[in-house]
Amino acid sequence: MQDLIRKIRGREARCGVIGLGYVGLPLALEFARAGMRAVGIDVDRRKVDAIRAGRSYVVDVSDGELAEQVRAGRLAATTDFAAIAELDTINICVPTPLRKTKDPDLTYVVAAVNEIAKHLRRGQLVILESTTYPGTTDEVVQPALEASGLRAGVDFGLAFSPERIDPGNPHFNTRNIPKVVGGVTAACTAAARALYEQSVETVVPVSSTRVAEMVKLLENTFRSVNIGLVNEMALMCNALDIDVWEVIEAAKTKPFGFMAFYPGPGLGGHCIPIDPFYLSWKAKMNGFEPRFIELAGHVNEGMPRFVVEKVTDALNGVAKSVRGSRIHCMGVAYKRGVNDLRESPALNVMRLLQAKGAVLSYSDPYIPAIREEGLALDALPARNGYLGGVDCVVILTDHAEFDYLALAGEAPLIVDTRNALQGCKADHIVRL
Ligand SMILES: NC(=O)c1ccc[n+]([C@@H]2O[C@H](COP(=O)([O-])OP(=O)(O)OC[C@H]3O[C@@H](n4cnc5c(N)ncnc54)[C@H](O)[C@@H]3O)[C@@H](O)[C@H]2O)c1
Repeated sequence: MQDLIRKIRGREARCGVIGLGYVGLPLALEFARAGMRAVGIDVDRRKVDAIRAGRSYVVDVSDGELAEQVRAGRLAATTDFAAIAELDTINICVPTPLRKTKDPDLTYVVAAVNEIAKHLRRGQLVILESTTYPGTTDEVVQPALEASGLRAGVDFGLAFSPERIDPGNPHFNTRNIPKVVGGVTAACTAAARALYEQSVETVVPVSSTRVAEMVKLLENTFRSVNIGLVNEMALMCNALDIDVWEVIEAAKTKPFGFMAFYPGPGLGGHCIPIDPFYLSWKAKMNGFEPRFIELAGHVNEGMPRFVVEKVTDALNGVAKSVRGSRIHCMGVAYKRGVNDLRESPALNVMRLLQAKGAVLSYSDPYIPAIREEGLALDALPARNGYLGGVDCVVILTDHAEFDYLALAGEAPLIVDTRNALQGCKADHIVRL
């Protein structure tokens, strides 16, 4: 690995990224910015074409910065896996979804690894970044790569480094979020560390791939469990007629031992609703029954139904039924400021309302259309005066672009699941 480390430090390494989504594209861009030659490989030709044209499809990457690296010849994209043979380092950033049964679906990882195995050569470094259960790197990736006849830690390097990006976060990005790395050997960790040190401010080495895999799952389980706790608090406060938002605001004045989490319509995105179940699956395979993960999942997955109950009660309060009511959803992306609809709880809220006979519409500056199981809708502009004509508005994502004051004055009935109308107390506003 010493030759590779020298090449990396000399910025002569050719760095490959497999999977150019929310994680892979910013990473490839950072490698290019660090002065190395980055090559992105994706099975999606549209993404490859967009990169070649200097067009970004990820919120945190601007067209300008992408085009600059492409023009300078530091960033290229291809659908051809033969490019792997020319690379020195290969980061895998493909999806790791769940099956319907909540079991890990490693299909994409295995497909990517099999392609690498075909072109693997001595001296290369392979790093898995996709979130997955502890043991994936040494139990799944390593044997598949060693089918090439080369040995991990001897002929090629192998490491795991969890991706921690937070899309839409204006303060933290690929460069300034510390990067945890764990290799199958100390030399593999050293090589992975050298690579990230070129483009990431802080690198945190750990003793093994399994520790690195578990770090990410602790972080995401921490979020899932705390969101589950605060969602249950919201349900309790609702039963006790206490304002949960006011409780949280006061609780967070405690300068130690408390961290504010907020209730909402449920969990979304490709991480928090999914990753803890990777851990849960692996724990069960080893005879351990995890309880926090399952309980938090249960509470969080029940939130869309609670929102629908709130909408039903609010309409009932003005002598209307859900059936036939025009219900407008404000914000459907899984969180503020992103164009990501994956696992968004808004979809379940909409499906449930539609099943009860509501006439749905929505607005979201980031999501022009919804074509998901059971839902086919095009976005309406956030403000064009029609909100006065609907029966109820449900705020599901608190995008900064919405004009909440105008909304409060215009809509006859509002169910606010995000406390977006904070401080705005009126009879026609119902909060979670
Ligand atoms: N999105 C996030 O905020 C986030 C944060 C931290 C970690 N992660 C993890 O990072 C991983 C990637 O997530 P993402 O959000 O970037 O996913 P994504 O769906 O945005 O991107 C994945 C890309 O991989 C491509 N792909 C799929 N199979 C491929 C294959 N065999 N070869 C080449 N390309 C292939 C897809 O076409 C897609 O462009 C997941 O494990 C996820 O859990 C995501």
